[in-house]
Amino acid sequence: MALQLGDAAPDFTVETTEGDLNLYDYLGDGWGILFSHPKDFTPVCTTELGEVARLKSEFDKRNTKVIGLSVDPVDSHGNWASDIKDATGHELNFPLIGDKDRTVADLYGMVHPNASDTMTVRSVFIIGPDKKIKLTITYPASTGRNFQEILRVLDSLQLSAQYPVATPVNWTSGEDVIVGVGLTDEEATAKFPKGFTKIKPYLRYTPQPNL
Ligand code: BEZ
Repeated sequence: MALQLGDAAPDFTVETTEGDLNLYDYLGDGWGILFSHPKDFTPVCTTELGEVARLKSEFDKRNTKVIGLSVDPVDSHGNWASDIKDATGHELNFPLIGDKDRTVADLYGMVHPNASDTMTVRSVFIIGPDKKIKLTITYPASTGRNFQEILRVLDSLQLSAQYPVATPVNWTSGEDVIVGVGLTDEEATAKFPKGFTKIKPYLRYTPQPNL
């Protein structure tokens, strides 16, 4: 069965462009993003990997390590890296797994045979410090991912790991958040000194508590 939210992220040790990597050791007590791309030397993938490299400081700010993967071998990834730099202006600055025997792709269900039995799809897994899966998204090969959305989800996950809040539709960091439904009004008053606005008994907004 496919990995689901709350499942333990399968650990692995694999060859990457930065040498052998053990997932749990690499993540330490931080957050992780494991994402697969279909194939090296392809246009959409080139733009995605350049963008992830550009966003490195954003992932660092969020104590999040990023790892890419495809079933192409590491030496192919290495050769492709210079094209990524030429095409996007950004040097690869995170490890890319060469999963040629599909060890990780099989553990994480990244090959969808009815889409392609030779390539990994565009999977994204966010892994929490507890090594549990916090988000899964799957995109088709023809659609490049929106990594701003992935940063947005990270912000939401990290906030709700710290405070009893949820985040509303289209929320981005800095905007009001939703008081957790498990809190009474009295508890919410104590927890959120900036107060809250009650739209419905179950819908209460409060300013983002960590700002
Ligand atoms: C691409 O990255 O452009 C791509 C890869 C595999 C299939 C289709 C597009």
